[in-house]
Amino acid sequence: MCGIIGYIGPRDAAPILLEGLRRLEYRGYDSAGIAIQTGRGIVIRKLGGRVERLAAHVSNMPVHGSTGIAHTRWATHGAPTERNAHPHLDCRGLVAVVHNGIVENAEALRTALQRKGHAFYTETDTETLAHLIEDEPGETLEARVIAALEHVEGTYGLAVLSASEPDKIVVARRGSPVLLGVGDGEYFVASDASAVIEHTRSVVYLNEGDIAVLTPEGYHIVDRESRVQHRVVDDVAWDLEELGLGGYPHFMLKEISEQPETVRSTLRGRLLLSEGDARLNGLNLTPEDCADIKRIVILACGTSWHAGLVGRDIIEELARIPVNVEYASEYRYRTHLEMPGTLAIAISQSGETADTLEAMRAAVTAGCRVIGIVNVVGSTIAREAQGGIYLHAGPEIGVASTKAFTSQIAALALLGLHLGRRRSLSQAAGQGIARRLAQLPDLVRCVLALDEQVRDIAAEYADSPNFLYLGRGVNFPVALEGALKLKEISYIHAEGYPAAEMKHGPIALINEDMPVVCVAPKDALYQKVLTNMQEVKARGGRLIAITTEGNGDLSGLVRHQLRVPAAATILSPVVTVIPLQLLAYHIAVLRGCDVDRPRNLAKSVTVE
Ligand code: F6R
Repeated sequence: MCGIIGYIGPRDAAPILLEGLRRLEYRGYDSAGIAIQTGRGIVIRKLGGRVERLAAHVSNMPVHGSTGIAHTRWATHGAPTERNAHPHLDCRGLVAVVHNGIVENAEALRTALQRKGHAFYTETDTETLAHLIEDEPGETLEARVIAALEHVEGTYGLAVLSASEPDKIVVARRGSPVLLGVGDGEYFVASDASAVIEHTRSVVYLNEGDIAVLTPEGYHIVDRESRVQHRVVDDVAWDLEELGLGGYPHFMLKEISEQPETVRSTLRGRLLLSEGDARLNGLNLTPEDCADIKRIVILACGTSWHAGLVGRDIIEELARIPVNVEYASEYRYRTHLEMPGTLAIAISQSGETADTLEAMRAAVTAGCRVIGIVNVVGSTIAREAQGGIYLHAGPEIGVASTKAFTSQIAALALLGLHLGRRRSLSQAAGQGIARRLAQLPDLVRCVLALDEQVRDIAAEYADSPNFLYLGRGVNFPVALEGALKLKEISYIHAEGYPAAEMKHGPIALINEDMPVVCVAPKDALYQKVLTNMQEVKARGGRLIAITTEGNGDLSGLVRHQLRVPAAATILSPVVTVIPLQLLAYHIAVLRGCDVDRPRNLAKSVTVE
């Protein structure tokens, strides 16, 4: 979704802003722009399309100055045109605004401002902010921003320039994350840390309602009543190299390949093999709290929701607690009848997904204790949760989530083990699970060796217009995830189904043109899945099976078999999903798709 970067300091701002925008590209966007204080007023350069086009435009028409703000826009109000791209100006070109979030009462504000004589130039909700600030008489830019925001309903992460105070950037946050980067005699504002870590690792995460004022001399933070607020300076742990391609053609392939290390990193320091337990201090749950949990509700979207479905099976088996898995976007608007003793778990790679955040807040209001399973350190969900587990999977840049999924399952398994051991799971059983968990990184490494085989299969099916993915039990969510990966990056229509449910409808789709990917590792349901595959074969479907090494030869039944090493059933999705990630990746590459930046998608979905 939209991205913000701003700079104030001794250096020329434009190259820093353009590089920051490049680092934000992964979030998904369709236009970009910069605004610079030039000494003779604010100058804007903006365009529809990619940051590279904007960089070429700036190099043709250079703009210099050491204070500026910039933005990548993911269109919500108005088409992704040059006109609608941020930054937006007031009537006189004296105030420039970049904004993430949505002004919900934009129409009413626009009408009121037009009545006062303000002329609007774009279709965006953001432009109302520039005119509101223009309309406020306050003595300083921050006073005018605070007064303007009094009229605004909705969400914002905001950075503002004013020609009358050229050495200042004012920043505001409500519902859309913003952080400050604290450099050596220079300061940054950004929507996420990746945009600034080239320059500094010291960041200040703004809280809801904070207003920050940046000058070349420093920064301070105030609340809506202009009272000074103190916020800690955090250290970003990610390395710059982690934000690069490291020799891979795409971030998605890099992230798929990193999974032996990222799963290991999620487990590191937490698995207690001899005790048969998991150390999860960040949960902030006492042994009594763990024993008292009556019910769990998992809140998530997309791939994280699929991980939640796997987590349900894991937790129910290890901890014997009933688990519901909810789409966060649906949960937030329902009546919440949570019984006492309900633990809510918000799962989110980015930690900023608007629906997951709001669902989590709704769960708190309903009386739940809430923990987060989050990758991005310092993100809003991580900070608002009462405890949690960080994935430590490193930055995920590819829009299609891959390494976060396997780390989420690893984290959920740690949680199941931890809760189970404080309930009825014996030490011996805990030791067994801990041992199987510790093996996962090596198993994932083995599966990655299937890459060439997967590429050959991809070549055969890259032109198929439809795919069906089937799985059962804990591997049904893997079928959903395989279908999601394929559709989002290759634009092939794909559906995931519980294998037996196929008979109740989707079987009508099966003919010799329909590739059917069946997740069939050796487990208690294997024979049942074999029967489901027979049903597909009888109707001419072309079967691709993900099955376990040592299983009988399926060549009479399926057209392709990819054999993965055996894992404990509840942990097998960490292994079975890898060929499906690779299949989606190779098909998308063969179809010439922009794998890391699929159309219409955003990495961090900060609007509902
Ligand atoms: C799919 C994908 C999305 C995200 C979803 C939730 O590849 O990336 O479905 O999983 O938008 O995002 P997070 O996990 O950041 O809350």
